[in-house]
Amino acid sequence: MSEKATITIDGKSYEFPIITGTENEKGIDIKNLRNASGGITTLDPGFKNTGSCESAITYLDGEQGILRYRGYAIEDLADKANFLEVAYLLIFGELPTKAQLSKFDQDIKEESHVDEDMKKILDGFPKSAHPMGVLSSLTSALIAFNPSSVDVDSEEAMYEAIVTIMAKFPVLAAWTMRKRKSLPLDYGDNSLGYVENLHKMMFSKPNKTYESNKIVNDALDKLLILHADHEQNCSTSTVRMVGSSHAGLFASISAGISALWGPLHGGANQAVIEMLEAIKTDGGDTAKYIDKAKDKEDSFRLMGFGHRVYKNFDPRAKIIKKSADEVLGDLGIEDPVLDIAKGLAQVALKDDYFVQRKLYPNVDFYSGIIYRALGIPTEMFTVMFALGRLPGWIAQWREMRLRKEPIGRPRQIYIGETHREFKSVSER
Ligand code: SDX
Repeated sequence: MSEKATITIDGKSYEFPIITGTENEKGIDIKNLRNASGGITTLDPGFKNTGSCESAITYLDGEQGILRYRGYAIEDLADKANFLEVAYLLIFGELPTKAQLSKFDQDIKEESHVDEDMKKILDGFPKSAHPMGVLSSLTSALIAFNPSSVDVDSEEAMYEAIVTIMAKFPVLAAWTMRKRKSLPLDYGDNSLGYVENLHKMMFSKPNKTYESNKIVNDALDKLLILHADHEQNCSTSTVRMVGSSHAGLFASISAGISALWGPLHGGANQAVIEMLEAIKTDGGDTAKYIDKAKDKEDSFRLMGFGHRVYKNFDPRAKIIKKSADEVLGDLGIEDPVLDIAKGLAQVALKDDYFVQRKLYPNVDFYSGIIYRALGIPTEMFTVMFALGRLPGWIAQWREMRLRKEPIGRPRQIYIGETHREFKSVSER
């Protein structure tokens, strides 16, 4: 007998099924609420208590600080897998065999050329344009050069669109950085691995032989894995919402990039470094910034702290913090900003304001310190987040389309003027 929830309104009771997921999460299925009650809906700004879908891709337990992709613990994947394997796992549901991984890699390589005319669009941007705005525009522009990727309803057509965006996205991301640095665009090298090739496209110099660095590539690979998916976060929900109208995969991802750009979401990794630099310039006065973060009159927030779901340490922050020490040590880099970050976290984690609100460091708190050690400019940090999140967006979009989810169209509670007669301008 399935569990039921009863809602009683104006003395009338309505029953709704309770669905239970494979990790025993329970949800009240209110699909029929409005019809059954004659128009009553729920209200939940920010969807803090509302599930938008059933999904088999990523599981989070915010209280325990658990994160799993298709059942595999993030700690294991970060430690033992590579980014392309994790991308395949998220998108298709299983860790690939050697043959599957090799075909995926080959199919991506086959699509890794970008139409020359895309450069004309890139040239239209000023050097000062933020790379996230450029990347969102270029991703949308890809549609014009790959029209068959728009309305994909067969799995074959979907696969083609998937390998196309997996192939071209890193090129476009690297181009946004080279544009700002007035460097000639690099087309990559198909003899290199996916992440190694990304690094080459970002950092190669026209007058110098590119030298690969295993420490850097391994750190980058791990960071991309840690950012690859995170269930129904703001940008993923945006990708699903846009895709639910049957807009194509590239258009949906372009929208996701814009959502990720915000400083409350993926843009936080850039904001964290800017905050830590400000504290450093301010003589390392962490107490002053903790007080600002607690002051309701001050809009300042401790960037990289807090999370909608994690009310414990973000498991990704733990892994990145450990990796930061390793990478800086291996590269022989002393970054005072890392010490400021650790000092800030120590103070905040003991402060009642943060303890009561269960505010812990999140994925963005330490990631910028590694990106910086890898020579990545601050304004490119959120692009790195987008590069990691790409397979997650693809996986969620594909699941939404394969499950034939309905078009997203939330309701509202109207609080404006009731009906009033029109008055001509002479009467007003
Ligand atoms: C990401 O959702 C995901 O999964 C996202 C992500 C992913 O992988 O996709 O994990 C990536 O976006 C990580 C978060 C990056 N953003 C930041 O680091 C920005 C700083 N953090 C906050 O803005 C905030 O914590 C959010 C946006 C992350 C979460 O906001 P919520 O869940 O809406 O919580 P809230 O704003 O309602 O805050 C609850 C209370 C409030 O105080 P009170 O009104 O109860 O007194 O906590 C306070 C907030 O003022 N608070 C903070 C704070 N975060 C929350 N106060 C100071 N500094 C902060 N960082």
